[in-house]
Order: sequence, then structure tokens, then C-alpha cells
Amino acid sequence: MKKQTKYKLKGSLQISGDKSISHRSLILSSMALGEAKITNLLESEDTLSTIKILRTLSIQIKKVKDDWIVIGNGTNGYIQPSEALDCGNSGTTARLMLGAVSTNPIFCTFIGDKSLSKRPMTRVTNFLNTVGAETVLTNKDYFPMTISGAEDPLPLHHRITKASAQVKTALILAALNIMGRTSIIETRKTRDHTEILLKYLKVKFKVIKQQDNATKLVFNGPYEIEAKNIFVAGDPSSAAFFIVAALIVPNSKIILKNVCLNKTRIEYISILKKMGAKIKVEKGKTRSGELIGSIQVEYSKLKAVNIPKGLSPYLIDEYPILSIAASVAKGTTKMNGLEELRYKESDRIKSIHENLKKLKINCSVKKDDISITGSTINPNGGVKIKTFGDHRIAMSFKIMSLICDKQLSFDDLECINISYPDFNKHLNSLKVENGL
Ligand code: S3P
Repeated sequence: MKKQTKYKLKGSLQISGDKSISHRSLILSSMALGEAKITNLLESEDTLSTIKILRTLSIQIKKVKDDWIVIGNGTNGYIQPSEALDCGNSGTTARLMLGAVSTNPIFCTFIGDKSLSKRPMTRVTNFLNTVGAETVLTNKDYFPMTISGAEDPLPLHHRITKASAQVKTALILAALNIMGRTSIIETRKTRDHTEILLKYLKVKFKVIKQQDNATKLVFNGPYEIEAKNIFVAGDPSSAAFFIVAALIVPNSKIILKNVCLNKTRIEYISILKKMGAKIKVEKGKTRSGELIGSIQVEYSKLKAVNIPKGLSPYLIDEYPILSIAASVAKGTTKMNGLEELRYKESDRIKSIHENLKKLKINCSVKKDDISITGSTINPNGGVKIKTFGDHRIAMSFKIMSLICDKQLSFDDLECINISYPDFNKHLNSLKVENGL
């Protein structure tokens, strides 16, 4: 039997700005002409890395009250930096900024922290080299690396077979400063915030559906983009932690407001509903091109589900928190085709497996598939979680701690600041004592 927990979760919460949209708002505003005000920008270590790099490339960015002002310098406007561009822990900063500088005739050195320096970059640079950029990578794939942007970048046809919004966006950012027709085919659809923001900024490009379900984007550059104010919707991947929290902590009922409801980001809600979750999504306004709404969630008895490989691009950041939901669901949940999880801020297959094992949850890994059999009693807890410096692992197990008989301890919680500095404050604001 599952026991009452010390706390239940009640009330409502405004989720912080979306990480993907925040990076794109900053970078696209830097490539526009004129002044843009960005509202509800996520202020986390990752987005601050993007701000710092843009400033190093001579873009003026300042904070005025709660908003950020970016003064764009055009699609060919980055000035030769005098120091290395430090991406910290941020894969999105790294891949997107490589694309952005690749068609400016400047020489840049890219560096990152220990985790980022183990993440592959050829997935982007192989494309950028064909356009005319020259790259030199450590051990042929990693940071530190240098890139010489192309003087006369070539308009080409690219086909991306690995599902990656970062790679697609890097190529789009490059195309904005290429004279002529660049086409980019993605064989598997990924998050489309870049395309949405470009349409909002009135950039003209074509989206052509292909017979084999692939999508072709056609750009005809170079572009002159007029700066526009941008509102950043709340991050659905951050909302996922609170949604699962309310589902697994008895007597909980919460409402999350201002959440981005972009279809490429909320597949996890469909999965949780299949598991028996009581979730109601209410659509609201569209702001800066993105649909926003509120999500109501209440405690639910969850059952196991099979998550097929084909859905992985739409769930890529939510597997850690879905693993926590699976750990309390009745039956065995199977999550297949998770190879890309090995290349995230940590090897997330390993990070999930190792920590669930510590909690005596029945979890097995076969190549890139994970199976988790939910526990019928509350986990005993009282163990030390190894976060591997990975923000999503840390937040997932903080949620797990809510239902453990003995609280979990953690080797490092600082990493939460990478994507969600207000996470603890927001979680505490929902906690109500059960009076046990
Ligand atoms: C992101 C794309 C995804 C995602 C990451 C953010 C983006 O990475 O995991 O957190 O903003 O484009 P991939 O492109 O490697 O799938």
C-alpha cells in the first residue's frame, strides 16, 4: 500500500520562460536590425551563456527592469571576438552559435565545461564545413574547437537524418546570411520554435511537406530582419516536473499557468494520460507565435505504458521525469530507442538506471531501451542520489524524494540552475503539510 506523504501539492504556479525559445529569442534578435525587448526570458546558467557570448561578439544586451533589451546588428553583424566563446554546460548555445557565426567572416574559439566537452559537435560542423566554414575540433568531435566563418558561404541542399532541433536551427541560422537558396530537409520532425519565431519576425521562407513525411525548409538569403518585441512562453519541459509531482503525491491538485503548448513539446502529456493521469489542458492565447495555456493536474493512479522509439524526438528532455512516473505505475513501462539520451548533459540512460537501482526500483537497460517496473509501496529512500551534474536528473529525483519514506540526499543540486533557478522556490510554494 502507498502511504500518505508529509506534503501534498496545492495551488497554482507560473512556470519560468522556455529555455529553447529564450536562446532563439536572444540569437534571432541579435541578427535582426534594431531594438527588441524580450519579456519572460529564462534567466538560467544556459541562457546567460548565450547572452555572454553574444556580448563577446559585440551585441549590446541589457536588462531593464524585468525585460531584456537586445540591439541587433544584422545577419552579418558579429564582430571578431577577442576572447573564447564559453558555452558553459549548454549544448543549445554551442550548436546554435556555431551555426550563427559560421557565415560571418570571423575566427572564434568555442569552449565549454567538462560535460559539454564530451558532447559531439560534428553533427553540426559536418554541415557547416560544406557551406565553407573551417572547423578544427579536439579529438575530431569535441570542444575546445575553432571555427573560421565563411567569407562567401555556399547555398546548398542539406538533409538531416538525425532528429535534432539544434542541428536544424544551426543550419537555419547559417542560411539567414547565405546569398541564394538553401534548402534543409529534416526526415524526422523536431521542435519548431525557430520556424515559429522566424514567421513572427516576418522572415519569408517555405515549408514544404515531402512524400516520406520529411519536411523541407527553403530559405533565400541574405535576410534583413526587423527587430520585434518577443514574449517567451513558460517551459513545458520544466512544467513536466510539477505535473509528475502532482500525479504521484497523494491528494495533490495544482494548476500550471503560462505554459507553452507547442505540439512538438507536450507529447509527454499524452503519454501520462495513457498512464491514467488526470490532466486537463486549457488553451489560451498565442504570443509571439506560440500557443500558451494552463494545465490542471491531480493525483492519479498510474499504470505502465510502452513508449515506442518513434516518439523519442518529442520526449527527449522528459524521459528522466517519465522514469519517475514509471517507478510508481502499476506494471512494467518500456521506453525504447533512447540512444540520444547518451549524448545529453549526462548519459541519461546510465544516470536514470544507477539512481533507480539505488532506490531498489526494478529497472533494466538493454542497449538503448529502459524497462521500469513500478513499486507498489513508497520507496524507502534515505540514499544519496548522484546527479552527474545533470539538471534534469537532479529535478527528477527531487520529485521522487517527495514520496520516499526517508528523504533523498544529493551530491550536487547546484546544477538545477542550468535550466530552472526558481525550481525549489516554485516547488516549496506548492507544498501543503498533510498534518501527519
Ligand atoms: C533543444 C533541442 C534538443 C533538446 C535540448 C534543447 C533545442 O536537443 O534536448 O534540450 O533548443 O533545440 P537535440 O537537438 O540534441 O535533440
